[in-house]
Amino acid sequence: MVIAVDGPAASGKGTIARALARHFGLPHLDTGLLYRSVALNLWRFGGDPGSEFEAVRACHIDGIGWDDPELRSETVSSIASRISAYPMVREALLERQKRFAAGPSGAVLDGRDIGTVIAPDADVKLFVTASPQIRAERRLKELQARGMPAHLPDILADIEARDARDSDRSSAPLRQAEDAVLLDTSRMSAEEAVAAAIVIVEKQRLG
Ligand code: CDP
Ligand code: CDP
Repeated sequence: MVIAVDGPAASGKGTIARALARHFGLPHLDTGLLYRSVALNLWRFGGDPGSEFEAVRACHIDGIGWDDPELRSETVSSIASRISAYPMVREALLERQKRFAAGPSGAVLDGRDIGTVIAPDADVKLFVTASPQIRAERRLKELQARGMPAHLPDILADIEARDARDSDRSSAPLRQAEDAVLLDTSRMSAEEAVAAAIVIVEKQRLG
């Protein structure tokens, strides 16, 4: 079984994807981490996020540990959202995502274009969303819990800017696949959202 989970920043797609992977015993790939790794590489070698050429040079990401706390910083989030609009960057990361989705034991992937580009034939597609205000409050809590400096109006502005960039780009924009099930988590706790996602997957699986 292949499950595609897409949605905007802090909609809860990562939490849902991880929980689905655990529940159904499937391997999980957070594809946002790939774009974040490219962004962190670029930032570390002082590259210009405005240059597609320099961003492509940063696509050799095997040296970055996936638990590097800097991957989650707002600076890296913002660079990731800019460089992910470059077709050559998306192309450089395409093959490893497709290979993961085609693995022998099935997979759960979360990102922006899983149901539309990476795994268009996925057995179940979820499009997870929540209002920008609620997503900003979630991100604020997360940053505060990690002791990182955070300011709600800045986070909200960043989320809205990333939503616009992710939705308006020409290469693999963020959009709900026609056959995806919409899950609005605005009024749900993380536990409720996970429970709702499991019900959707069970129903879709039974056809
Ligand atoms: O967790 P959050 O939603 O804030 O971000 P993420 O999923 O880690 O993704 C970081 C950035 O990478 C996003 O703002 C997108 O621009 C980009 N991304 C993408 O373009 N396509 C994907 N499949 C995953 C992430
Ligand atoms: O992966 P994405 O950026 O979409 O979001 P996440 O990292 O899964 O979730 C962002 C934060 O919102 C986490 O701290 C979750 O515990 C929290 N949250 C949630 O994921 N879903 C809810 N329904 C409520 C809160």
